[in-house]
Amino acid sequence: MSKNEALNIVITGASSGIGEAIALEMAKDKHHFFLTARNQERLSKVAENLDKMGCQVHYAVGDVRDAKEVEKIHSYVEKAFEGKVDVLVANAGVGYFGNLEDLTVEQYDLQFNTNVKGVFLWLRKVLPNMKKRNKGQIIVLSSNLGLKTDSRASLYAGTKHAVQAMVWCLRDELKGTHVKAATINPGSVDTPWFNSKDVDRTKMLFAEDIAKTTRLIIEQSETSNIDHILLLPGKR
Ligand SMILES: NC(=O)c1ccc[n+]([C@@H]2O[C@H](COP(=O)([O-])OP(=O)(O)OC[C@H]3O[C@@H](n4cnc5c(N)ncnc54)[C@H](OP(=O)(O)O)[C@@H]3O)[C@@H](O)[C@H]2O)c1
Repeated sequence: MSKNEALNIVITGASSGIGEAIALEMAKDKHHFFLTARNQERLSKVAENLDKMGCQVHYAVGDVRDAKEVEKIHSYVEKAFEGKVDVLVANAGVGYFGNLEDLTVEQYDLQFNTNVKGVFLWLRKVLPNMKKRNKGQIIVLSSNLGLKTDSRASLYAGTKHAVQAMVWCLRDELKGTHVKAATINPGSVDTPWFNSKDVDRTKMLFAEDIAKTTRLIIEQSETSNIDHILLLPGKR
């Protein structure tokens, strides 16, 4: 999509980390934003920053796991953007790591309901109008663990393989249209995600790296249709 048009961009999980960084990066071009996440205080701060940067910004608190909440927030989005969503960044996600037998049923539900169902619920709402307008870019935050496996990541990698398959099947459904869908597949990114985890953060990607990748996908030319972008840390 052209750098010069003001795009209507929806970001889930915009209150923190990668979602926040994507909003701040794209705000440099004064696009229009609809942000969502559960934490009102953090979400409103991000919205305030975009507003200070001169962007038109709306936000609503909601849980991507809940179909009724997604429907309600999507109706606000439709009103704010008059049915024209140009870009959906389906970014909200959670992760729990450990040997399979140590992971809990609650962690299973949290991860699959957020990372898979939450993406499905948003995609199914924005796709009809994107198809009708024959225009739109969907970007799903998958992971390098959507393309490979690792010890201690069974459930998380399971969710990311699931969204990876979801997007690849969707790309087949979108053949012949100008609606595009891509995943971003980062390795470890230094975000609040790791705040309560005892890990070495010095060799990780920055959230800004993912934000610049998002820009690349949004601004790709009409003749290209990025499938996925795998990003690994440069400091190895
Ligand atoms: N950090 C990494 O190393 C890494 C690597 C590869 C892929 N990713 C993916 O990147 C995405 C963003 O991760 P991050 O590193 O930016 O983590 P983060 O800083 O913890 O941000 C996660 C975001 O998701 C939102 N969220 C979580 N559960 C939600 C729910 N049920 N409903 C609505 N929003 C929800 C959170 O907001 P609230 O708490 O306010 O709801 C927050 O805004 C995730 O999909 C993750 O799997 C991360």
